[in-house]
Formats: sequence, C-alpha cells, structure tokens
Amino acid sequence: MDTEFFELADYKKTGEISLSDEEKLIRAAVFLREGGLVAFPTETVYGLGGNALLPEASKHIYAAKGRPSDNPLIVHVADMESLRPLVKEIPAMAKILAAKFWPGPLTMIMEKSPKVPYETTGGLETVAIRMPSDKAAMELIKLSGVPVAAPSANTSGRPSPTTALHVKEDLDGKIDAIVDGGPTGIGVESTIVDVSGEEPVLLRPGAITLEMLENCLKEAVDIDPALEKPMDSGLHPKAPGMKYKHYAPKAPMVIVQGDFYEGCDGIEDGMKIYEELMKIVNAVKALVNENSAPGKRVGVICSDETWEYYFEEGATIPKEKIYKTESIDLRSIGSRKDEKSIAHNLYAVLRDFDDENIDYIIAEGVDPRKLGYAIMNRMQKAAAQHIIRV
Ligand code: TXA
Ligand code: MG
Repeated sequence: MDTEFFELADYKKTGEISLSDEEKLIRAAVFLREGGLVAFPTETVYGLGGNALLPEASKHIYAAKGRPSDNPLIVHVADMESLRPLVKEIPAMAKILAAKFWPGPLTMIMEKSPKVPYETTGGLETVAIRMPSDKAAMELIKLSGVPVAAPSANTSGRPSPTTALHVKEDLDGKIDAIVDGGPTGIGVESTIVDVSGEEPVLLRPGAITLEMLENCLKEAVDIDPALEKPMDSGLHPKAPGMKYKHYAPKAPMVIVQGDFYEGCDGIEDGMKIYEELMKIVNAVKALVNENSAPGKRVGVICSDETWEYYFEEGATIPKEKIYKTESIDLRSIGSRKDEKSIAHNLYAVLRDFDDENIDYIIAEGVDPRKLGYAIMNRMQKAAAQHIIRV
C-alpha cells in the first residue's frame, strides 16, 4: 500500500491551521470516514487512527501495529456530543474531569454503549475516551465526522512516536496516510483514569498528574496496584496495554535512581543535591566501565544538571548536550527543573539508540513525583524494571 504524506507546513511553523493545511486534513479525513487508517499528531504522541465504529478498521489497526487484539484502543472525540452515544452514561466524575482537562492529555474509562464494537474495546464492556487538544487532531476528528480509535502510531513494542518520521519508520506502506504536524509537545501518552466504578482509579500516569486529578475531584484517586509492581508480579493491570513490555528499546536498559527526592522541594538545596547527583553520576560511570567492551557502545541518558560531571576536569564541555565516541553515546535529555523537557525527549532518544544499535543503555532516574511519575513509569517499562538505587 502507498502511504500518503500530508505535511501541515503552516501548522508546523505557526501553530495555526492554514487553508492549505485544511485541504490536506480534508483528504486525510476522507480516508478515516471510508474505513482507512491515518496517523496524526496529538499533544502527547502520534496516534494511528481509524473509524472506531467499524470493526474492520480496528482490526486493521491491530494488524498494522502488530499488536495483540486484546489490547483495547482509545477512542478520540472532538466534542461532548460525540461522546454521549459511545457510553452507557457519562459518570459525574467524568463530567467534572472533562470540564477541567478536556480537551487535553486525559483518557477516561467508561461503560460502553452497544454502538462501540468489541473489536475496538478488545472485548471489554468499557471504552477509553479522550478529547485531544492538538488543533490538527481536533480538526481531523471533526472533519472525519466519526469517533476515531487511535493507539500510539508505533509498531507494537517500540517507543511511541513523537514525530511523523518515527511513524514513517514503523508504518510506511502499512497505512493510508500520515499527517505531519511536527514534533508532539508532551511526549508521553495520556493519563488514563477509570471512572466506570465508585472510586476513580489511575491506570496510567501522564501529564495530568495524580495531584491534579485529586485536586479537581476533591477526593483521593486510587492507583491500579499493578502500576506499582514489577510486571512479573502476577498482578494484572486494569489497562491491558500496560502489561506488555511497551516502549522498549532494542538494547537492555538500566536506571540509576537516587533517593533524595522525598521531602525535598525541588532541587534547590545546593550541597546536598550536588552530593546526591554525584552518587548517581558515579554509579552510572561505574556501569559504563563494566559494560564497555571493544566494538560495543553504551548509551547514557543524563540531565542538564549532571552533564558536565561526565567529563574529565579541564575537558571542553560540549554545549549541545550530545557527545558521541566509538564506545559511548552520552546525552542530556533535559533539565530536572523542567521535567516537561525530559518527557518531550525521552522516546526520541530511545529510538535514536535503536537506530545506532547501541548495546546497553544506562539512564539517570528523575524525581518520581508529578510528571516525573509518568517519566519513571515509561523508563521502568523500557528497562523491564531493571533499576539500581543509590
Ligand atoms: O496519549 C495517548 O493516549 C495516545 C494518543 C494517540 O492519544 N494513545 C495511546 O494509545 O497511548 P495506546 O493504545 O498506545 O494506549 C492505550 C492504553 C492501553 O494501555 C490500553 O490497555 C488502555 O489504554 N485501555 C484502552 N481501553 C481500555 C479499557 N476499556 N479499560 C482499561 N484500559 C484501557
Ligand atoms: Mg501505545
């Protein structure tokens, strides 16, 4: 199959959809309406969309991704009117959360109506719904006139795509079209919260943090116990997709995590923080040495705060935060003071390491609270829970 490319050139430059972008979105929407598959940007990661009401379209999504069909899809809508027919009822909690966080990076699980085929929900009686805030995504969904089922637009098992190029690498020739709206902003998938029961339950952490959900609902949000446990614990996560070894790079990966975050507000506390960061850096360096061998390359993910400590005293420190030799590929993926930058870059770096056939990956952990909870969740999956605490 030939995959058509629709580059939203003006949207990429200005963030606004021009007439010529609109024409491209109209052509992409026709594919969706007619049962075809279109990858498109959202504010989190790129999605692989199909008409959520057509069992055949959902089957094609699973086939294109090489994804097990018991792993349900998220249905994307552009307004509340489109949500109503998809669910048995809109729970009170859902209304409160929608008023605050939609459109945005929040997915809610509700009881499905008969209209939604089991092919879309992986056989479940519930359906995951999200209203994305990305303007191109919104426009595409509106133009298609149908609810759009869209998992992340990667081959199953690879990191989620944050650029159209990532999508092309995985799905070129397997889907009808790719809409290129530039790199996605957030970089990790939406928060998933189950609002189908009495109590709200967090199934996947994301940019809408646990604190934000609790502040909005004015009640405690439970955490799916499987989120906190290693994957081989025998606990079955309520979001079926969370059980797979998602987001995984080709190389084995290990995380070096500090323990200085609890009770410390940010990382302002000078000397103490420096010492704690140096513990992480020294552990990473030791691991680099242990895993170095002729012909092998180690990938290291560090942070702006630790970058300079990886260089010998007196060495010129590269400004661009990327340093490659025959034996190492060292990168800072962002600042610990701005975790958004880390979330934004994480998957792209993991993909780069895949492309370079890196043999072993070592990553510094980050503060596991707020957005850091989502970052650590994705890192730990990529590392198959291989984590060293210092
Ligand atoms: O940010 C996102 O959510 C992106 C963009 C494209 O919107 N989409 C995304 O989809 O990450 P996907 O398929 O990669 O992840 C969907 C997750 C899976 O873990 C799946 O198991 C869970 O949502 N899920 C879907 N329907 C569910 C349901 N009815 N009950 C529990 N979990 C569900
Ligand atoms: Mg996914």
